[in-house]
Amino acid sequence: MKYEKIDYKLRKSLDTERYIHTKGVEKTARKMAEFFHEDVKKAGLAGLLHDCAKCLSLDKMNKAVRNYPVDELMRNSKALLHSAAGRCLAENVYGVTDPDVLEAIRWHTTGHAEMTRLEKIIYLADIIEPNRKPFPGMERLRELCMTDLDAAMHEALLLSLSHVSKQGKTLHPDTLAALEEYESKEQILKLIKEGENENED
Ligand SMILES: [Fe+2]
Ligand SMILES: [Fe+2]
Repeated sequence: MKYEKIDYKLRKSLDTERYIHTKGVEKTARKMAEFFHEDVKKAGLAGLLHDCAKCLSLDKMNKAVRNYPVDELMRNSKALLHSAAGRCLAENVYGVTDPDVLEAIRWHTTGHAEMTRLEKIIYLADIIEPNRKPFPGMERLRELCMTDLDAAMHEALLLSLSHVSKQGKTLHPDTLAALEEYESKEQILKLIKEGENENED
């Protein structure tokens, strides 16, 4: 499918806020790919399509992944499932065949162990794109995203851990596996405890 058609289709399937976010992720992903000598076209396409399933109902997301493996945790959460559903729509509706692009869409919510550089770029671009509401640590993360991809991933995963444990929730096992590449299990447990304590305060 041609770029213009994808763009047109997305504008119709997403609400305005999500469409603006999508364009921000596309632009940021292209910029990061250029900086880190990755494929700019692939990064742009994955950025553009990463949230293509975001505005669907949970039921429709589940229909989109009927032939694709997802765990129970994902199946019941729109926040998690839209990435796998988006991967399936990118392939089956938007005609994307490139596995690198499809996988980058698939993993943009949880991350996973041994991520590719393109997957890291989309994961991070999603968090730092210019239209995102500011959060503590955003400026530092933005800086890292333009200097050191792994330091940025480490920081982003720590922010995610702290956010989740403050809410008294647990990280998805794939996100935990991603973080374990940067932190020892002991340190992760310590950080979870700290987050939980802050939650109780
Ligand atoms: Fe998303
Ligand atoms: Fe997003």
